[in-house]
Amino acid sequence: MQPFPAAVVLVGGEGLRLRPLTRTLPKPMIPVAGRPLIGRLLDHLAASGVVGSIHLASGYRAEAFEGLEGPPFHLACEPSPQGTAGAVAFAAGPASGPLWVLNGDALVPVDLAAMFEVHRRTGALATLASVRLQDCARYGRLEVDPEGRLLAFREKDDTPGAGWVNAGVYLLEPEVLGAIPPERPCSLEREVFPVLLSRGARLQTFPHRGYFRDLGTPESYRQAVFDLLEGIHLGVGVEVDPSARLSPPLYLGPGCRVGPRARLVGPSVLEDRVQVGAGAFIDSSILWEDCRVEEGAVLRQAILGRGARARGRVVPGAVVGFACDAPQGRNPRGSGLNSLPPSREKEPGT
Ligand code: GTP
Repeated sequence: MQPFPAAVVLVGGEGLRLRPLTRTLPKPMIPVAGRPLIGRLLDHLAASGVVGSIHLASGYRAEAFEGLEGPPFHLACEPSPQGTAGAVAFAAGPASGPLWVLNGDALVPVDLAAMFEVHRRTGALATLASVRLQDCARYGRLEVDPEGRLLAFREKDDTPGAGWVNAGVYLLEPEVLGAIPPERPCSLEREVFPVLLSRGARLQTFPHRGYFRDLGTPESYRQAVFDLLEGIHLGVGVEVDPSARLSPPLYLGPGCRVGPRARLVGPSVLEDRVQVGAGAFIDSSILWEDCRVEEGAVLRQAILGRGARARGRVVPGAVVGFACDAPQGRNPRGSGLNSLPPSREKEPGT
């Protein structure tokens, strides 16, 4: 029996839209309620039953992937960014059979066994998982015929409206790798697929009708993490003072400590060993490992990178880098924050 196709997971991007969180950590390693995003993705590949060996195509901060727990993988590290196509060629080497390729920055549990079946039945050169969004302004649209054959890629044009978009999960025949120019960086979605289409190649789509969230921006990251929360999860060794108030959904990783009269309002996530001082107020926020929230601090819709510290009233929606102090003030940071549902909880003193 033929072995199942190997998989290349693209994890080498700089994650600029998630700065400053990605200054010290590549985007696929960001914590998602107790497990790095890439760990969740590897678990899905291993559970699918149709994936052979797994290669991580890394570059930016590659060392962060070493020692990642879960299914085994090979780590390939590009000397310079090769683009999504160049990275696949670099990590996979010469291929004799089909190859899975996945973006490493999305949660999209595609039924890979069913996708494999469609790929075989249609004899496509490449099969792309597609997902229907109510508003696809942030993405390029896919034009497909009634049988799901891909007709064209429409570039991002900021026009709101529903449509099918590329979910970043592909099954590629070796001829696709052969179409990647070896001497320069190159993009799969912007160059290789459109060139193959213009040559009349059969590219198939596989409609994924389940969950899809890419974690490319602070808002979509926050939403993806909150989607996973349910009830109140307390990790091993968590200490919560009896006078503290916890409103679900909440995730508190191992070793967190919550002081007297503190209030935690869900959806919120405290990764491992976060310390919350007396009377602090945390609402709709994500705090990475080893953060410290001082006595009486107020946090709303914030994302605090590893080891960050919050004092006083933190600017609502602040996104704070590794070991930094959260900025204080009242004005929301950036746009898109108002799209979050307003909390019904009152802060202390109001
Ligand atoms: P932004 O800088 O915020 O656009 O993020 P990004 O470039 O990290 O991600 P993007 O959505 O553009 O890329 C999709 C996936 O491909 C992500 O998982 C990236 O890590 C990965 N990727 C992008 N460019 C490269 C590259 O040149 N080499 C490798 N190995 N991976 C890449």
